[in-house]
Amino acid sequence: MDKLQNTIEILREYNQEHVIDLLEKLDEDKRRELIKQIDNIDFHQITELYNNTKKQIEFKESKIEPLEYLDKEKISQEQKNQFDKLGEEIVKEGQYAVVTMAGGQGTRLGHSGPKGTFKLDVYGKGKYLFEILAENLKEANREYNARIPWYIMTSKENNKETVDFLEKNSYFGYDKNNVVVFTQSELPIVNEQGKLMIGKDLKIKEASDGNGGTYSSLRSSGCLADMKERGIKWIFIGSVDNALLKMVDITLLGMAKYKNVQIASKSVVKANPHEKVGVFCKMNGHPKVIEYSELPIKMAEEVDSEGELKYGESHIMCNLYTIEAIEKVSKEPLMYHSAYKKNSYIDESGKEVIPSEPNSYKFESFIFDAFEFFDDIAILRGKREDDFAPVKNKEGVDSPKTAKELYEKFWNRS
Ligand code: UTP
Repeated sequence: MDKLQNTIEILREYNQEHVIDLLEKLDEDKRRELIKQIDNIDFHQITELYNNTKKQIEFKESKIEPLEYLDKEKISQEQKNQFDKLGEEIVKEGQYAVVTMAGGQGTRLGHSGPKGTFKLDVYGKGKYLFEILAENLKEANREYNARIPWYIMTSKENNKETVDFLEKNSYFGYDKNNVVVFTQSELPIVNEQGKLMIGKDLKIKEASDGNGGTYSSLRSSGCLADMKERGIKWIFIGSVDNALLKMVDITLLGMAKYKNVQIASKSVVKANPHEKVGVFCKMNGHPKVIEYSELPIKMAEEVDSEGELKYGESHIMCNLYTIEAIEKVSKEPLMYHSAYKKNSYIDESGKEVIPSEPNSYKFESFIFDAFEFFDDIAILRGKREDDFAPVKNKEGVDSPKTAKELYEKFWNRS
């Protein structure tokens, strides 16, 4: 059977006849490209993910317990010094690297371009989110006399724009030899009937496979090998959209080393028991971030003997790993969650349809779903006003306006 025939058989088997029609209309070059793309699609997986969108999520019987944490504000000076010394040694010895996850679509913010190219209106002149991150790293390099490698994860969709932007801005003064931009994997988007969608480029529409894709993409891109070559032992992974993200927190790093754990995370306490954020817990003996919708109300309100919420530590995408931990999770398949989103497409008559309502499913894995592969995690509670100024929504909570206020307040204090 020739290649085309083989591809047609597969498409027929998985009820994707509209793609066969397209294949038949394309010129030879375009057809070859489309066949190549189809070859890389795991149709069995996509069918299963689509079928799962129709199923009610079952919460399995689980044992949920609080997870221990240390409050950075409350640890003794002696303990803090001990952690800081351990952390500082790691950074100074060149064993520390940072990864920025910048492959998201930023749909809620609605900025036309990669999120890192969004300019936050601070101090009159404004600063780009990538600029804020670069400044944070440059400062750490100065303080610890280090040259921290900076890995930036992009999506296929925003890679070129991101690289062009960083080049144009000379990496905001960060040594280009210590910046590695890599691209994460994608999965096809399907419509409400489970059909693959066709994009304007006459290819199947695909989208980044979620921030949980960071681990496997670090491996497949060669970044993990590069880290090993550079002698990296600890890796920080953070988001692109937190204007107060501290990527080099030696207390967190030293605490992880002291506690001899493979993973660690900075948290901030929930603003109130009912805030809609994921919180850390132990589920069936393993660390986990539990969504607010899965945490029974009674538990969400429970306090300990000191009046602190038992399940109050929110996950703020401020995570730390040993290189062995990344090795391990980069080989583990994570579960996929589906998101119902708006996606434009080309219909059978070749016209572009731009929907005003969600019309399709995107499949994503989440970075924190890897925590359960470990027995333990070290959590350090930071402070919202020092550590967390997310830029998520166009307006209201976690918007450029709130991030600007938090950023300026922090820097006016420091
Ligand atoms: P979010 O899950 O908040 O997504 O990403 P987002 O793309 O920024 O925004 P919405 O949901 O479309 O409005 C948290 C972090 O994970 C990264 C984002 O770039 C951000 O730093 N991310 C998300 C990826 O790197 N890849 C993905 O596939 C998804």
